Amino acid sequence: MTVRIRFRSFLTFLLVIASVAVITVLQRPENARAQSQQHPDGLIRPLAKGAEQAIANSALQSIEKGRETFRFDTFGDEAFWGDTLNLDATIAGAANGGIGPGLSPKQALGLGLKVDVGALPGALQDQLRAGAVNLDDPAVTVALLQLNAVVGVKGFFSSGVLTSVGIQCALCHSTVNDSFAPGIGSRLDGWANRDLNVGAIIAFAPDVSAFATLLGTTQDGVRQVLNSWGPGKFDAELSLDGKAFQDPPANTKSAATLIPPAFGLAGVNLHTWTGWGSVTHWNAFVANLEMHGKGTFFDPRLDNAAQFPIAAANGFGNVRTTPDLITRKLADLHFYQLAIPAPAPSNASFSAAAAARGRKLFSADGKAACATCHVPPLFTEPGWNMHTPAEIGIDSFQADRAPDHRYRTSPLKGLWTHTKGGFYHDGRFATLLDVVNHYNGVKSLGLTEAEKLDLVEYLKSL
Ligand code: HEC
Ligand code: HEC
Repeated sequence: MTVRIRFRSFLTFLLVIASVAVITVLQRPENARAQSQQHPDGLIRPLAKGAEQAIANSALQSIEKGRETFRFDTFGDEAFWGDTLNLDATIAGAANGGIGPGLSPKQALGLGLKVDVGALPGALQDQLRAGAVNLDDPAVTVALLQLNAVVGVKGFFSSGVLTSVGIQCALCHSTVNDSFAPGIGSRLDGWANRDLNVGAIIAFAPDVSAFATLLGTTQDGVRQVLNSWGPGKFDAELSLDGKAFQDPPANTKSAATLIPPAFGLAGVNLHTWTGWGSVTHWNAFVANLEMHGKGTFFDPRLDNAAQFPIAAANGFGNVRTTPDLITRKLADLHFYQLAIPAPAPSNASFSAAAAARGRKLFSADGKAACATCHVPPLFTEPGWNMHTPAEIGIDSFQADRAPDHRYRTSPLKGLWTHTKGGFYHDGRFATLLDVVNHYNGVKSLGLTEAEKLDLVEYLKSL
């Protein structure tokens, strides 16, 4: 008996020794490899070969394809913006084969459209610098479209004549850095274009009867609504519920929402002001229902005729178009947006000392406790990031235009890039101090004036 037990424990001892040795051998190259991958800048360099390299390559390819789609794809929507609304005709003007006076580059920049300096040939840049280009001539706008230089707008040409026009994601979710001139510079993908007057641009089309039919109103009625939006705003729910104003019948407050940024979205569960769904849900939604691209979209929540009478009547909850020019691009488009980091503010743009004090107030156990909802570093809740209107002390108008009747906790990184147009979904708070004052009131935070300013500096530092 004793001998057998001893023999067994000896075997166990051997086994333990052997496994420790195996683990050490297995771990050592792992450690060595991890160290050799450590870049001086702290980044992990992709492995030279093997499955990990395949993943890294796939990620890079996906980013490139997604960027191409984000910047340049119209998903076939020129059939709507060009062929149906005939927007190309009023852009070109009668002198260039279209209708009316046309849209000059000066007017286009005034509507918030941006020009990608990277698409302008050197000779043209020289002429622009020398003031030798007539920015009042719509023929120049047409030439810019032909150069693919207008951010988010694609011209279609036949024998040099503009025949159609389509729009891209970059129209609303990109701007430029003004490196060449105001409105002309290098692309900044993901930034909300808060200068862009989408409503005025659509109203510039000669034929908005497609919207009039959908909404059951006149073309004049459609134009009145479009012109009520103003810069930096769009109403993605108008074509679902037909609600154009927050306060009928007075109709003084537009129902449009601000264009949010499309950066810093990784890790954030629900998207849009009212949490319609994931990034890819919303991308499919917008490409099909708002841009009028050709594809497939399924969301039976839109069949709710009480909430979405227009969507339900038109079958927007189940769209099937052939050929489908959208679905195969969604994965890369999704990946690209997740890859765009929220841009960091310059150190000079806020007071570091005040921001540090503001950070303490903001923290979950601080006096303002903002981080109970805006959880760092996502600045939204990990999980179901939605709140009732009462929880944030505002009305339910916009929340009630979405399936969950709630507002989504806005991720706050890169807030400094979209201070134009105000804050909250409809820009109701003109400044960050107004936002802080709102919380101070509805949450009875008892913040002093100095503490409020510290919080503002912290928000500017994100
Ligand atoms: C005409 C302007 C416009 C165009 C074009 C547009 N969007 Fe948007 N986008 C908006 C507006 C406005 C919202 C907010 C909608 C809401 O909350 O109801 C939004 C919301 C989003 C969001 C949610 C951001 C967040 O904070 O959660 C993403 C992501 C997005 N858009 C990506 C895209 C992509 C990708 C495309 C192209 C397929 C696109 N958008 C085309 C105006 C636009
Ligand atoms: C109960 C959860 C909750 C708390 C607490 C909270 N927020 Fe918010 N926050 C939200 C929601 C939801 C929104 C979106 C409102 C909307 O869409 O109109 C928001 C929006 C914002 C915005 C606007 C973002 C934009 O893009 O316009 C700012 C700024 C902000 N919050 C700052 C704060 C600060 C500062 C505090 C603390 C004083 C705070 N929040 C506390 C939920 C919260």
